Amino acid sequence: MTFCEYKPGLEGIPAAQSSISCVDGTKGILEYRGIAIEELAQKSTFIETAYLLIWGKLPTLDELEDFETDIRLHRRIKYSIRDMMKCFPDRGHPMDALQTSVAALGLFYSRRALDDPIYIRGAVVRILAKIPTMVAAANSMRRGNDPIQPNDNLDYCANFLYMLTESKPDPLSAKVFDACLTLHAEHTMNASTFSAMVTASTLTDPYGVIASAVGTLAGPLHGGANEEVLLMLEEIGTVKNVRTYVENSITNKRKIMGFGHRVYKVKDPRATILQELAEQLFELKGHDEYYDIALELERVVEEELGSKGIYPNVDFYSGLVYRKLGIPQDLFTPIFAIARVAGWLAHWKEQLAENRIFRPAQIYTGLHEQTYIPIDER
Ligand code: SDX
Repeated sequence: MTFCEYKPGLEGIPAAQSSISCVDGTKGILEYRGIAIEELAQKSTFIETAYLLIWGKLPTLDELEDFETDIRLHRRIKYSIRDMMKCFPDRGHPMDALQTSVAALGLFYSRRALDDPIYIRGAVVRILAKIPTMVAAANSMRRGNDPIQPNDNLDYCANFLYMLTESKPDPLSAKVFDACLTLHAEHTMNASTFSAMVTASTLTDPYGVIASAVGTLAGPLHGGANEEVLLMLEEIGTVKNVRTYVENSITNKRKIMGFGHRVYKVKDPRATILQELAEQLFELKGHDEYYDIALELERVVEEELGSKGIYPNVDFYSGLVYRKLGIPQDLFTPIFAIARVAGWLAHWKEQLAENRIFRPAQIYTGLHEQTYIPIDER
């Protein structure tokens, strides 16, 4: 047996073969099934993009209509799931509520037939349909309110915004939110997708797969960074504090949230699009003073850390968009999850098609041939 070099964080080690998405981190290119993210964000919708990712091709009009209709029909969640969610603590983080609720779907839909295409499609539809409803319901219930029922007259994204506020979003807000979900839908072998694939490789049920991915996405080094960015902008407070904040962060080896990426050594193309979307919203709904801080932060970080390839990632501007849409800060990461479900499901399906359980090696650094010492002699 040959021993490979140990790479912390598996940096650069291929963990799978995949035809779902592709990143060129030096050119700043991201493609889903070969189509540039810029094109999808502008011309497609999240649901069409989810279809593309999961089924490997753009849908025909009929296929898209069927997919949308099925998802619309499955948006509601069972009373028992709502009753369970009512018992969640008001101050618990919505990502924990989401992870628990997704895992609970496995209790209610316990049939598992991973080699049955009808089962696979049903699970895909159910997960895509119910996750936004669960995020919105948990948000209402922690405020002591009844969940707002899905509105069958609204599409996927407009309906989610409606379930947060009980008012129909204006067309630009719904369009911008849809583009945000498209941008977050998939990103090769990131930590949560890897987690989903490891779980999928044991042939467990899809709710367990998605629950493990949600738990992985929640951390501040991954999807949790979008919420942390807003907290950081609040902490910085004004444009004139930016340089000191950056210098202190570098001195104290504190990571600047929303910057840096394992793969991108240039500005993340999704950050560029999200910045444009934020600007469109500011034009319609008024300026946000945090945007001035963000712009200065990007300028100073580039000056100080650009030579190390540290630039804004997807999480840097998304929070400013969601803030302008009136979305509470601690829902930013659950929204990332609503979008990334598409990618997780695509990888789940790809993993099942050619499954082998993940079982990497380790390099043991402990002792050998130790003697057991009885407790009264230690
Ligand atoms: C996402 O993988 C994906 O695709 C993820 C994602 C997706 O769509 O799924 O793109 C979504 O998770 C975006 C990342 C969100 N996280 C953050 O914004 C948190 C802040 N960023 C980092 O902690 C960091 O950049 C990571 C976690 C994103 C990447 O970590 P790596 O690849 O392990 O890099 P590293 O921490 O080892 O840093 C390498 C160097 C270090 O300097 P040196 O010790 O070599 O001198 O870069 C520096 C780091 O100190 N560095 C930073 C920095 N990020 C890296 N310095 C200051 N601020 C930062 N944000």
